[in-house]
Parts: sequence; C-alpha cells; structure tokens
Amino acid sequence: MSQLSSDIVSVFCDLLGEPAGLHEPCFQGREWDYVKDCIDTGWVSTAGSYVGRFEEMLGDFTDTSHVIATSSGTAALHAIFAGLDIGDSDEVIVPALTFVATANAVTYTGAVPHFADAEATSLGIDAEKLRVHLTEIATTRDGRLINQKTGRRIAAVVCMHTFGHPSDLDALTKLCDDFGIDLIEDAAESLGSYYKGRHTGNQGRVATLSFNGNKTITTGGGGAIMTNDDALAKRLRHLTTTAKQPHKWEFIHDEVGYNYRLPNINAALGCAQLEVLPEFLIQKRQLADAYDHAFSRLDGVTFFKEPSWGQSNYWLNLLMLDASDSTLRDEVLEATNASGFMTRAAWRPMHQLSMFMECPRMDLSVTEDTYTRLINIPSSSQLATRLVNATA
Ligand SMILES: Cc1ncc(COP(=O)(O)O)c(C=O)c1O
Repeated sequence: MSQLSSDIVSVFCDLLGEPAGLHEPCFQGREWDYVKDCIDTGWVSTAGSYVGRFEEMLGDFTDTSHVIATSSGTAALHAIFAGLDIGDSDEVIVPALTFVATANAVTYTGAVPHFADAEATSLGIDAEKLRVHLTEIATTRDGRLINQKTGRRIAAVVCMHTFGHPSDLDALTKLCDDFGIDLIEDAAESLGSYYKGRHTGNQGRVATLSFNGNKTITTGGGGAIMTNDDALAKRLRHLTTTAKQPHKWEFIHDEVGYNYRLPNINAALGCAQLEVLPEFLIQKRQLADAYDHAFSRLDGVTFFKEPSWGQSNYWLNLLMLDASDSTLRDEVLEATNASGFMTRAAWRPMHQLSMFMECPRMDLSVTEDTYTRLINIPSSSQLATRLVNATA
C-alpha cells in the first residue's frame, strides 16, 4: 500500500472509527408516522395530500414559486426537455462531468447532448470556455442558435451543481442571455446549496432536484421540477400528470403526457425528511470541516471546498489527488474500500461512454484531468455524530 493510501485510511479510522458507506439515508424524524398515515388511509399513490405538502415545503425552502414533484430526477429532466419542445433537430449543452442521467434525458427527446468542460473551482460548466467554443462553432439564424458543424439548433445549457457545489450561475446566466438560449439547472445534488445567497435551481429558467436514496434527503425514489415561470410550470404539471384535462369522470388527455407524478407514500417520506433537512445540512458541514482539517495535514491530496461565490451542501465530499494519476487513484480506492471506508471515482466522463462518443463537444481537458484525480469519500450526515464521539 502506498504511503498516501495508508495515510488516507488512517484519517478515516481516526475520524470515523468504524467502516462507513458513501452516503446512507437517515430516518430520524416522523417518517414512520407519515408513511403509516398513507397506508392507514389508503392514499399511497399519486393522489393524496402529502404530494402537495411536499411541493409547498420545497417551494418555501428553496424560495421558488412552483415545484412539481416527480417520480425521479431523470423524469423531471425529461419532462422539462419535452415541455420546452426540444426534439430531434436540437442539441443541448450538458457537462461532460455529470451523472449519466443529465445526458440520457436529453436523448429521450431525440435531441443530442453536446458536452461542455468543467472549471476547477466548482467543477461546474466553465462559462468562459463555453463562450469561446460557442463563438467558434455557432451562429444565430432567425433568432435560433445553430451549430454550424451539425446544422442543429443549440436549444439550452444544462448546468449541474457538482456534488453540491454551486456552479458560477451569474457567468452562466450571462452566457445564455448573450446567446439567446435557456439555462436549465440540474440541481439533483444541491438541495441546501446556495449561490450568492440564492438557492440553487432558482436562477435558471427551470431546474430539477433528485430524492434518490443517496441524496441529502430521500423519498426512496423521486425528484422535482422547480421554476418561477408560471406558464412553464402549468405546462410541466400537465405533462407530468399524463396531460389529463381536469374532469370528475371523463378521461381526456390532450397530448402525449407522462406518468411522472411522485406517489403520495414517497412524498410522505419526503415531508418528514424535509423537516430535518436543516439539521442534516449542519451535520454535513461539520463533517466537511473535520475532513478539511484532517486532510490539510496530508501531502499529495486536497479536500475540495465550496467556491467563494456560494455555500455547498457538501452532498458528496471529495478529495483531489495532486497528481493526475489514475493508477494512484485506483490504489487509494482499493485500499480505502478494503478497509471498510467506501470511496469511489468520479463518473466516467460522458464523452468516454460508448453511446455518447460521437456527440459534439468542446475541449474537455479539465474534465479528463479531474476524472483521474477525484475520489468521493464517506459523506452521510449521520457520520457527524461519530466525530463528536471520536473527539469526546
Ligand atoms: C446530476 C444528477 N442528475 C440527475 C440525477 C437523476 O436523478 P434520479 O436518480 O432521481 O433519476 C442524479 C442522481 O441520481 C444526479 O446526480
């Protein structure tokens, strides 16, 4: 085992004591009561009061006018692309450094993902580098931004707040305004993260959240659409509920819609989780601070901290190796996992996946470099209680 690997394992042993998973759900509030209520009353499916309550609580927490709860974050992304009439003659700019759902959802509409590079401060899309790229390859025709190389319209930019760290939203907003395209925020990982005091997901035209089991709060599976655009919210609510016209007994659907509504039983779990979200966020910050302190004493590796423009929820903590060395990275992954501390590499960059290799892209050197250096480390909020025990 290399010195660095054994040093990292020692830090985990000292801080966390026992083995730890990467991100585990924590049910310490009223989850049982609310889920039992659904079962007792029979309201387990897409109708029921918890869905509306969950949407309202999320709207209040994120200060967003409209929230539409969906069956997953992926479904939320798909519904947005469909609702914005993005289709097979379009491209959508997405980060090459993201979970595959961001790019997958683009293809569900027949559109093509076009990959953008990350910047090293937040690991979000590098707005300035993307500006240079778009200036080189795109032109505006009849108010539409066209990729001159493929002839397709570039319909939107989807930014992603990587591992909870807010992207530079002002720079991305300005870029999208200048090129006349929509900014969509994939905020799946950033519930509780803020950009210049404003909740992530609140600045682009529309955004998504995810409540998958590994997220800061979970509904088992689930997601949400957030927007301050009244007309778009109306359209997306309609599309995600099978495009059914309201009627007491008639079933009339006025277009092809999707059964993407979050079930009540999942929303019940979400309401209980949202009640304790502020506590989770405090614990996650305590854990991040402890990691920062402990890893600052190691050579060869740096704990990745939130950018100066925002506040991260520290959803998944990460280490960056000083060296771009995937052999060393794999060796650290091997040693830490063998010692019971779950770690993992970043997602394989999208343009290196077989189904996306032919997609248009810009220079992706920062993404490629990041992939060889990044290691996600145990991040569950409840690990903060072990820190107290470890230092007691
Ligand atoms: C960046 C990103 N986008 C989209 C998703 C998809 O969300 P879901 O798993 O709820 O479909 C996830 C996570 O799972 C994610 O991390």
